Amino acid sequence: MRKSRLPAVLVVDDEVRSLEALRRTLEEDFDVFTATSAEAAMEILEHEAPLGGIQLIVCDQRMPGMTGVQFLQKVRSQWPDAVRIILSGYTDAEDIIAGVNDAGIYQYLLKPWQPEQLLLTLKTAYSVWRMQQENQRLSLELRAAEPVLKKRVEVKHQRVQSAFGTGNLVRAPASPLNEVCQLIERIAPFDLSVLISGESGTGKEMVARAIHYASTRADKAFIIENCGALPDQLLEAELFGYKRGAFTGAYEDRIGLFQQADGGTLFLDEIGETSPAFQVKLLRVLQEGEFRPLGGARPVSVDVRVLAATNRDLETEVREGRFREDLYYRLATVSLNVPPLRERPMDIPLLAQRLLASAQQGLGKSCNGLSSEAAACIAAYRWPGNVRELQNEILRMLALSDTPVLGAELLSPRVLRTPVGETQEADLSLLAGLQGSLKERLEQLEAQVVKETLIRHRWNKSKAALELGLSRVGLRNKLERYGLEKK
Ligand SMILES: Nc1ncnc2c1ncn2[C@@H]1O[C@H](COP(=O)(O)OP(=O)(O)OP(=O)(O)O)[C@@H](O)[C@H]1O
Ligand SMILES: [Mg+2]
Repeated sequence: MRKSRLPAVLVVDDEVRSLEALRRTLEEDFDVFTATSAEAAMEILEHEAPLGGIQLIVCDQRMPGMTGVQFLQKVRSQWPDAVRIILSGYTDAEDIIAGVNDAGIYQYLLKPWQPEQLLLTLKTAYSVWRMQQENQRLSLELRAAEPVLKKRVEVKHQRVQSAFGTGNLVRAPASPLNEVCQLIERIAPFDLSVLISGESGTGKEMVARAIHYASTRADKAFIIENCGALPDQLLEAELFGYKRGAFTGAYEDRIGLFQQADGGTLFLDEIGETSPAFQVKLLRVLQEGEFRPLGGARPVSVDVRVLAATNRDLETEVREGRFREDLYYRLATVSLNVPPLRERPMDIPLLAQRLLASAQQGLGKSCNGLSSEAAACIAAYRWPGNVRELQNEILRMLALSDTPVLGAELLSPRVLRTPVGETQEADLSLLAGLQGSLKERLEQLEAQVVKETLIRHRWNKSKAALELGLSRVGLRNKLERYGLEKK
């Protein structure tokens, strides 16, 4: 490397006096090299190349042996980055113009040259050279960045997929939800419509998401519309969009959800709540793959996979004339039922654990888990509101707790005490768990009643005895007999 940090300029002219004048003009701002012939200039270029190179070349057009343009053409093939400038008289103009492109000449200056103009031209030329270098460097970096960026997108993609895939649906090894998940994996890659049925809070939306993220559309939009929440006109406006002025209140154009979901998946939740008029419109869109925004002149065609969900029994709705049969078949190429929580009690402990973990994150409050009593009550309850009810129960417990372990006393009364006679199935399952003679079974039942009452009263024995119509001694005897004590 040269010591000087000034840009290097090579000046080529066969007239020594002219060469000296050029040097004097430039030497304050540039590291100036001079040559009186093309050969000498080539030698300098070669010599300087490993030392930092020459950035600018100024060359006289008229030289013995070779014209300036010819020389610069030669330079270009070997040092394409050097910015080339030619000096010439009027009479050379034609030759130069003919050679400008071949030699890749940045500019030509007419003789006699003015010092300020020459300096300005060279300074500008130097900034061109710097930008050119920067551009090359960035191009190289971009080329290296492409695989890195690709990798990063891939990693994010995998993260999203694992956050929303079937792996995220908590279930026990023997859960009937496993069959549902297998079906999801099997049908997801094909562009089939899927109707997801299940009671409220069972996880229908999670299932829809899992289908989308297991499909080839995973990197496109997943858009949800709750069809039960809106009157027809608003629902249509949301789904199909509208043009400004299509109705009062339409102050500007709006792109519908069908269009936003183009290439991806549209999830129509609570499809069973829609009106017959809307069902007709939806059917037409699904059949034709195109629709007309409200007030729009042209139809818009889209590529959207439609998933729908309902907590109604849609087949019955069809039979009884409340849901269009043709639309039903359009939506339900595959139908998939998410079983209620009471039909998969084996999932409850796992779900409770997972939901407690996310509740801790959500509330920013930590705990050491559920007491065994609380866990037992949770496992025994029927959860008519399914996973959503369980989720709310756990959130509530965590919010109310003031001890590290969440005890049964934090449970809402309906969960803590599944009252006898509330549901027949619950009674039977409770009784089916008892073993031995009638007397033995009654004792087991008695132990459970005593325990449940104590938990509800936070092990306050006077209150429990009072409620059960026992004396304190009578209660203590029962505790001893059944080996009951606060854990
Ligand atoms: N198997 C599961 N594992 C983990 N979380 C679940 C599971 N099933 C449901 N959830 C959670 O329970 C809540 C309710 O689920 P989701 O919204 O999917 O149910 P839904 O059937 O669409 O309910 P709704 O009928 O009320 O719209 C969500 O917060 C969801 O994350
Ligand atoms: Mg839902």
